[in-house]
Amino acid sequence: MPHTSRPRPHRRRRVLRPLPLAVAGALIATVAVTLPQLTPDASAATTLRGFADARGVRVGAAVGDTPLTSDSSYTTVLDREFNSVTAENAMKWDALEPSRGSYNWAAADRLVNHAASHDQGVRGHTLVWYSQLPSWLKNGNFSASQLNTILKNHIDTTVGRYKGRIYAWDVINETFDEDGSMRSSLWQDKLGTGYIANALRWAHAADPAAKLYINDYNIEADNAKSDALYALAKQLLAQGVPLHGIGFQSHFVVGQVPSSMKANLKRFSDLGLEVSVTELDIRIPLPASTAELAQQSTDYKTASENCLGVPRCAGVTVWGLTDKYSWVPGTFSGYGAALPYNESYAAKPAYTGLSNGLNPNA
Ligand code: G3I
Repeated sequence: MPHTSRPRPHRRRRVLRPLPLAVAGALIATVAVTLPQLTPDASAATTLRGFADARGVRVGAAVGDTPLTSDSSYTTVLDREFNSVTAENAMKWDALEPSRGSYNWAAADRLVNHAASHDQGVRGHTLVWYSQLPSWLKNGNFSASQLNTILKNHIDTTVGRYKGRIYAWDVINETFDEDGSMRSSLWQDKLGTGYIANALRWAHAADPAAKLYINDYNIEADNAKSDALYALAKQLLAQGVPLHGIGFQSHFVVGQVPSSMKANLKRFSDLGLEVSVTELDIRIPLPASTAELAQQSTDYKTASENCLGVPRCAGVTVWGLTDKYSWVPGTFSGYGAALPYNESYAAKPAYTGLSNGLNPNA
């Protein structure tokens, strides 16, 4: 697949339309064989990916391996509507390297291969995170120098394996606390903040064309956390570190898309960085009322426009596609209904909101 963060134009499905009789008759009179007339299928342009392709951006979904391999309704919607996928869990450290030096690529490969055969790009998620670390790594009591080597090996091996097949990597995930200080983690505590530049440089060496991101939540508004990230991004760029984008996870509560979101994304974009909404979902206290579903639709439109209205917005990814498999109810007790499709794959008002956010003519 092309090595760019821009999606390939979606191949339009073509439908055969009969020629009008008079024209057909005239053609038959002059040529021995008449060719069917090919016209674009209008429905392709009205899917989420149709609108995204037309703007040259990505609309993505986080994909779980279980529904990918067991639920054909899920893959039908995924492949019809999305031109990008992110592994919800399959590329995290505990999934990929459950014991030291021994990798399990099965689920990650499945997703990358699925994407290739459905004209979808892949966002890689994630290389350096404080969470979902295998116990050998968490409890290994490694020295700084050992840890450095372990991190470099993991990045070299993982990014190298998918070189040319992943258009963007969340190299660094959730590295700040809410007050803007560096989050305490295995990496921060043992290696200091320098691990960020190192990880970005190693990832760049392993796949020079992949766009490299720092990804985080609660950085959508202008606040202490986004200010700290802004300062770090500026510093990394000044040092020539290969940082290419900022991922704004955007796990929102209905009615609470931050009013400063667009201006905040723009200040990062003004540094020359790509910006992407990487994990959008908008949770509602259950049971969701009609008014809340309508507000959620507005919120999906606003959130996607907040990115797409900014230069260098590469696209919007939703964290799942159906409420059937969302992480939200398991984490936020009493909340759910956060995604564009309900549990039976009916498109919710949120789908229309997202679609209108992607469609510049809506
Ligand atoms: O892999 C084990 C499996 O072996 C075991 O049988 C099963 C039993 O519960 O658990 C499985 O692990 C679960 C994993 O998802 C895969 O299903 C973990 O318990 C569970 O905690 C994990 O949750 C994921 C969470 O990240 C933690 O990694 C969610 O699905 C995923 O949506 C969520 O995604 C994160 C992003 O990566 C970063 N930003 C926030 C976002 C939401 O929390």
